[in-house]
Amino acid sequence: GGPPRAGRAAAAALGLAALVLSSGPAHAAAPGGPAGAPGQGDPYFPLSGNGGYRVGHYALDLGYDPATRHLTGDAVITARATQGLGRFDLDLSGLTVSRVRVDGRVAHWSRHGQELVVTPARRLRAGAAFRVEVAYGGVPRYVTDPDGSADGWIATDDGAFVAGEPQGAMSWFPSDNNPRDKASYAFRVTVPAGYTAVCNGVLLGQRTAGGSTTFRWRQDQPMASYLATATVGKFDVTRSTTRAGVPVYNAVDPREAAAAAPALARIPDVLEWESGLFGPYPFSAAGAIVDDAHDVGYALETQSRPLYDRAPDIGTVVHETAHQWFGDSVSLTSWQDIWLNEGFATYAEWLWQEQHGGPTAQAAFDRFYAQPATSGLWAFPTADPGDGAHIFASPVYTRGAMALQELRTAVGDRDFFTILKSWAREHRYGHGTTAQFVALSERVSGRRLGPLFRTWLDTAGKPAAP
Ligand code: ARG
Ligand code: ZN
Repeated sequence: GGPPRAGRAAAAALGLAALVLSSGPAHAAAPGGPAGAPGQGDPYFPLSGNGGYRVGHYALDLGYDPATRHLTGDAVITARATQGLGRFDLDLSGLTVSRVRVDGRVAHWSRHGQELVVTPARRLRAGAAFRVEVAYGGVPRYVTDPDGSADGWIATDDGAFVAGEPQGAMSWFPSDNNPRDKASYAFRVTVPAGYTAVCNGVLLGQRTAGGSTTFRWRQDQPMASYLATATVGKFDVTRSTTRAGVPVYNAVDPREAAAAAPALARIPDVLEWESGLFGPYPFSAAGAIVDDAHDVGYALETQSRPLYDRAPDIGTVVHETAHQWFGDSVSLTSWQDIWLNEGFATYAEWLWQEQHGGPTAQAAFDRFYAQPATSGLWAFPTADPGDGAHIFASPVYTRGAMALQELRTAVGDRDFFTILKSWAREHRYGHGTTAQFVALSERVSGRRLGPLFRTWLDTAGKPAAP
């Protein structure tokens, strides 16, 4: 829980500008017809995602050797063109592409920064379904984010810690790397025997032959690319089933096992408690991956199976599990709205404490409200914290949770919990925006809440005493 420990140093404005420039020439008028845009126009990550198509499914066939850190990949992407396309982009950073096919025909491709520009042999018509196959390989290099933190394929001493928020998916597979474009996933990951490869969703099977083991996983519910994982390590695996019938698969680095055991044992309780508050659990599998990767400095709510860089405490498990509703099932439309993920997951921690013998959420609010006007907590607004360097900081997490506590105080418990459940239900497997959350809150409560949200979400500085 709380803002991730790593990386708050500002950086990268320069790196991003360089990428924007280098992608320019590739998108001049295409001879084969119009080009899909190289980004989706996100104000913080303009090149994340692409224009001109939507992905339905990713089938990723990967092989990883922890000794050499070499990854081989074969990605089959099923998509639909939303315009005529003479060429289109995928996001892929580093690695070497050896072949691209579109609908079975060899396609031309070029690389420009994080853009893999694909020119199919035949122009795609608007509305056409198509299939892209990309064969690639190399030693993945994680992405350094604007706040200085690392994400993506992060090699460890016994495998790889694979967490892609916000941009790192492109360090290990080609994608439409933006949470606006969610898709189902199938994974086939081959590792040397003795290693475990853990992905999202349900384990379909594992098979060891000739000194290697292939794990097959499937995530059927829509998933944003940043939530995909294929974490590799030497793990102790424990499987169980919740009372509601959801299979739980925990993979734990033995070095963290003793410390992780108490919090992991409560995963079924946490799922049940959160289902009571937020509505039915959205996914058909659950669990945890606990790695020994302390340098990473954060955990991630990888869909269905959160990934921890060390043994988590119960608060962190409550936080990452709450994200399954808020962030994973209900996704961001823009990275500006990151408080819809982090404020909600932080508030879930406060609620857990309140209902398990700890301080009330109001007491948590009061404790943070006591911070002086000079505190970083008030340094920038909660909804739209300014740029990609500020998405994982306390004005998003803590002040986001404080905004929810202020909403609760204004509308009362009954309406407040109706709002949380309705948000999860109305946007299940989809997307939400801050404006939609404000509108829902006003609709459920019958109150005008503009001033409250303007103060707590949109205005920097310490708000006047509530
Ligand atoms: N969403 C994660 C959490 O709060 C944090 C991810 C941080 N990622 C990063 N690149 N620093 O649960
Ligand atoms: Zn979080």
